[in-house]
Amino acid sequence: MRTPLIAGNWKMNGTRAEALTWAAAAVEAAAESPNDAAVFPPDVWLAAVAEVVGDAIGLGGQACSWETSGAFTGATAATMLAEAGCSMVLCGHSERRHVFGETDAEVAGSVTRALEAGLTPVLCVGETLEEREAGRTRDVLLRQVDAGIGATRGPADPLIIAYEPVWAIGTGKAASPTEAAEAHAWIRARVAETDAERAAAVRILYGGSANPDNIGGFLEVPDVDGALIGGAALDPATFGRMIRHAPASAPEA
Ligand code: 13P
Repeated sequence: MRTPLIAGNWKMNGTRAEALTWAAAAVEAAAESPNDAAVFPPDVWLAAVAEVVGDAIGLGGQACSWETSGAFTGATAATMLAEAGCSMVLCGHSERRHVFGETDAEVAGSVTRALEAGLTPVLCVGETLEEREAGRTRDVLLRQVDAGIGATRGPADPLIIAYEPVWAIGTGKAASPTEAAEAHAWIRARVAETDAERAAAVRILYGGSANPDNIGGFLEVPDVDGALIGGAALDPATFGRMIRHAPASAPEA
């Protein structure tokens, strides 16, 4: 019912030529895959990548402002991403929260601006190692989910959630499928508290040191509906393998 989404977040990586090559490889892999695919290039390459991907895979910005326009040097408005060809945008990625200090309120503002611009927000949530070790993982996730969902205008709004434990991002130390299962179940149950239908439909992606060897374990978890991939998405062959991943029970496309 929920088609898995395999998405690559390129972060601040790649030349223009690399971006075009990576995008073309993702399109090719997606054509042979039962999964949906998407890429999140740096803003400056979005328009060029949009020409390559067309409607074949999703295209998203890595962040958008909580403001609509104005004197906000260096920021990108959701409407600009939409005009550049995006269909989605990451909101509250861990690096935005922890490196650039975005608050729950600012992330919520980004979600609202994204929806107003016709984009699907990909609401990123995740606990730090300190929060996990203090037994606060569930509290942190629910707080971040509540803030993000509170910013949507209603259940008809499109939404994707990504669970990315901060301690697993870029560390080579992925969560276990069991840890992901627990977190994803908490998130889906929270959405269900206000809207069971939305909870059944929303795709919840896992992110954090996902690679071709461990993606299968995550996708077997019933509440995991895809992956948001950083480092492993920077090699087109590797990312292509992950896009093509099919559950053992399904026929290879
Ligand atoms: P890595 O796959 O490099 O751990 O990054 C995950 C991530 O932050 C994707 O948004």
